[in-house]
Amino acid sequence: MSDVRTRNEIRFILNGEDVALSSAAPDETLLDYLRLRKSLRGTKEGCAEGDCGACTVLVGRLSGEQLIYESVNACIRFVGSLDGCHVVTIEHLNGENGRLHPVQQAMVDFHGSQCGFCTPGFVMSLYALWMREPKPADAAIEQALQGNLCRCTGYEAIVRAARAISDYGAAARDPLAVERASMAGRLAALRDGARVEIGSGKQRLLVPADLDDFAAILESEPKATIVAGSTDVGLWVTKFMRDISPAVFIGHLDELKAISEEDGVINIGAGVTYSEAFSMLSKRIPALGPLFARIGGEQVRNMGTIGGNIANGSPIGDTPPPFIALGARLTLRKGATRRTIPLEEFFIAYGKQDRQPGEFVETVHVPVPVKDSHFAAYKITKRRDEDITAALGAFYLSLAPDGTVRSIRIAYGGMAATPKRATAVENALLGKEWSQAAVESALDAYASDFTPLTDMRASAEYRMLAARNLLRRFFAETQGGTAPIQVSRYQAA
Ligand code: FES
Ligand code: FES
Repeated sequence: MSDVRTRNEIRFILNGEDVALSSAAPDETLLDYLRLRKSLRGTKEGCAEGDCGACTVLVGRLSGEQLIYESVNACIRFVGSLDGCHVVTIEHLNGENGRLHPVQQAMVDFHGSQCGFCTPGFVMSLYALWMREPKPADAAIEQALQGNLCRCTGYEAIVRAARAISDYGAAARDPLAVERASMAGRLAALRDGARVEIGSGKQRLLVPADLDDFAAILESEPKATIVAGSTDVGLWVTKFMRDISPAVFIGHLDELKAISEEDGVINIGAGVTYSEAFSMLSKRIPALGPLFARIGGEQVRNMGTIGGNIANGSPIGDTPPPFIALGARLTLRKGATRRTIPLEEFFIAYGKQDRQPGEFVETVHVPVPVKDSHFAAYKITKRRDEDITAALGAFYLSLAPDGTVRSIRIAYGGMAATPKRATAVENALLGKEWSQAAVESALDAYASDFTPLTDMRASAEYRMLAARNLLRRFFAETQGGTAPIQVSRYQAA
């Protein structure tokens, strides 16, 4: 039995105002809170599923002593996840002496201000970018706007505005920058080490005081919904009206946010977001950089966690196939007891994972590819950015000095009910000369490994053909030359 102190309200700062909420429901979204309770209607609802960016706000949180602001989707972010945070909405943007804010003025002058639905979201995404990178390159602008959709006009004017924002003012003079130290102090003062418990029955939410407290809560409430980044659970609420009570919010737990490398293995805490993992993973395992850059939009990457992507067991999660190919292992914890298993064994069947009642994913251990090996991961989607995977193949190959296949691990998402290794294909290649002929003759083995489904993302035939072609592509990329085969732009002839 845990003896931590509890309090019965969520505390955060909204723009400049201290908020203490004793009545939050587990499924109350930040968007509903802003629009319905606070009448802050500049933040819009477009899709309510984290795709369009109309609901973009900034959330500031302490990472150690540092105050970090990130763009997030308010439509799938729950109020229960905001304890100790600073929420910044479009209403907070003001220029000096009553003028428009530099982001707003640039949008006006370059005709980037379009309809009332998308514009506030674009402004907030650009605001986050400008604070972080006052003079962004075009690639950074595109990246920052991946999660903001306009369904009618276009992006050119917005991109031109983005390039010019710093001509209208210095990011260092923005109130969020000027007041960063005092805001960090205010947020630190909200961290009282207490567990938050609000409501009862179908309206219950908990925010653990720390990781041990989370383990204790989950042991006593094994059916609780664990909410980390809420990029998946958010949709259970907004699209499927599911009851998530009692919900346990864990996105703030520092102990789950560590990422470090030891003896050639990167240990990633389950609460590490895609954005947080990006810099280390893309440096140490470069093939993961382009893959991570295509997971959701920036808002989703700022929220979604590696642990959540694994724990929800989706057959089309983007991290399990590459991690399985690399031979990753997973540490699960129940109370004070831990066990570590190969990641591939975690996925038992569709919707069924090897997670006992009261147990949770704590850390994933990802080996860095060994010297002179080849590793690649390819994601297939209908559109390049911000799309859900139809099929994803990952390949990890080591060759013997005589050019034969010493080891190969191949894993796919979207080809079966779970993320799955292509062991028949691997066996067909093992010990053979790594050649086009060997690859071609291994393609038949795909039929033993996979019987893919047809759904809205791809037909079974397409998936099978694409999966086989990815092996061909991997082979081609291992044959000299350094540039991966990649189509990033289509140009009219
Ligand atoms: Fe579309 Fe939130 S309303 S991302
Ligand atoms: Fe607003 Fe296109 S969605 S202008």
